[in-house]
Amino acid sequence: MSIIADNENLEYKKSEDKKNPIIKPVSDENDKAFENNIRPKNFDTYIGQTSLKENLKITIEAAKKRSKTLDHLLFYGPPGLGKTTLAGVIANETGVPIKITSAPALERPRDIIGILMSLEEGQILFIDEIHRLNKVAEEILYPAMEDFYLDMTTGKSQTVKTLRVPLPKFTLIGATTKAGELSGPLRDRFGIIHRLEFYNEKELAQVIKRTASILEIEIDDKGALAIACRSRGTPRIANRLVKRVSDYAIVKYDGKITEDIANESLDILKIDRYGLDTTDRNLLKLIIEKYDGGPVGIETIAAAIGEDSRTIEDVCEPFLLQCGLLQRTPRGRKVSPETYRHLGYKTQNQSSQQSLF
Ligand code: ADE
Repeated sequence: MSIIADNENLEYKKSEDKKNPIIKPVSDENDKAFENNIRPKNFDTYIGQTSLKENLKITIEAAKKRSKTLDHLLFYGPPGLGKTTLAGVIANETGVPIKITSAPALERPRDIIGILMSLEEGQILFIDEIHRLNKVAEEILYPAMEDFYLDMTTGKSQTVKTLRVPLPKFTLIGATTKAGELSGPLRDRFGIIHRLEFYNEKELAQVIKRTASILEIEIDDKGALAIACRSRGTPRIANRLVKRVSDYAIVKYDGKITEDIANESLDILKIDRYGLDTTDRNLLKLIIEKYDGGPVGIETIAAAIGEDSRTIEDVCEPFLLQCGLLQRTPRGRKVSPETYRHLGYKTQNQSSQQSLF
């Protein structure tokens, strides 16, 4: 079933799964359909983020006991760690519907007003990439979040009147990869702020096994771990890789994913033992070869490797920083001795000792 929100540039599609009342924008359907299909629907099937889950369970139970809507929540952290999934889990666990949108879709005042006015009592509104909300949309959100009303103006200049329109009580869940870019006043209106952490290899192996079982892919424990090790701590990447490796296992072998088959397939995909892909390696090699290990500015790196600086910052960097292969300094990005070792270069010390002799 497809419903059009009051907001005319957003079309929403209700999930076929009645137990999972997630409403998603129709666009991007193919890519999202796969993710939606394998998304865990409750805390029991949601793997990882253990302490966050425990905190959320308490928050949800307290809200239920008080018969109150949940406080507004902000999730931040690198992409692919399950912010949208978690919002869906919260909706299911609290038994309320959820409306999902993202800040770039809320460009005009009528977009945000339309979506706020279409909410039902207790509903969850999920806004992805919330750091990209424009100032006007933010101003509209403030009274909506704080006291559940909208300030609407009618008339012109001297006859202008402000109308206070009440809204149903709702919970806003905001997600961002860039908490630092959120304005102070918006951040302050979230009662609960949580950071999502990278997953460890054991957790990712569990995610992979769960996904494989939903997709009826045969995989053994070591095969799952081999893929987990190269998934950059990120379930979205793990889930993509298990599909790619499964394709390889079907075409070249009998379809079952083992450790050897996983490693062979990932080598062919040029995903190395750290999970780095060609873009990551090009970025690190550039800093080593052209800038003697750095520091070098992000815009220079972006221009040299032909990537958008925002993609580098949002997608490549978080994991490279986390695993210590890249460092951020006031003068730009630099690599570590481990980066030299991992990419098969002599370390800076070894090179300078060599040139001394
Ligand atoms: N698929 C994506 N993220 C997941 C998670 N955290 N747990 C289980 N399956 C997932």
